[in-house]
Amino acid sequence: MTEKQSMHIDPYEKNWIRLSIGLLVVFALAVTIAGFAMGIQVPSPEARVDPRTVADEGPWAEPGLRELAPGKYEAYVLAQTWQFTPREMTIPAGSEVTFYITSKDVQHGFKLQNTNINVMVIPGQVSKLSVKIDEPGRYDYICTEFCGLGHAAMFGTLIVE
Ligand code: CUA
Repeated sequence: MTEKQSMHIDPYEKNWIRLSIGLLVVFALAVTIAGFAMGIQVPSPEARVDPRTVADEGPWAEPGLRELAPGKYEAYVLAQTWQFTPREMTIPAGSEVTFYITSKDVQHGFKLQNTNINVMVIPGQVSKLSVKIDEPGRYDYICTEFCGLGHAAMFGTLIVE
């Protein structure tokens, strides 16, 4: 057997190699488009906090909305069994809100209905995600991790007027 013959690749196998490389290109494009063109973010842990004291001092001692500039808000949300604080927030349509969410007890979830905000809320960790909402309406935020008896009643509302 010569060197040339040992390098021979079956045409059938060649097609599978082409298909595999093609899929990799498609995946890389999908991730790039989702991240840069569609603004889909990976919820990264923004900071570490001590869940035992996070509600005693700092921004989660008084959770809620802060207006940074016209149309630009940050929202500090505290999750605990079985409620979000605050339960209700109101922003004008067209505003951008950055959420900073943490839990003072067990693991919760935070999903803002009809937006792409959906994040795990882990005690000791701050989850940060931003959204711009143009359409007025009531946007409920609900807990998406089973956290005990009152889980189903754990929700709040973002009002966009
Ligand atoms: Cu909190 Cu389910």
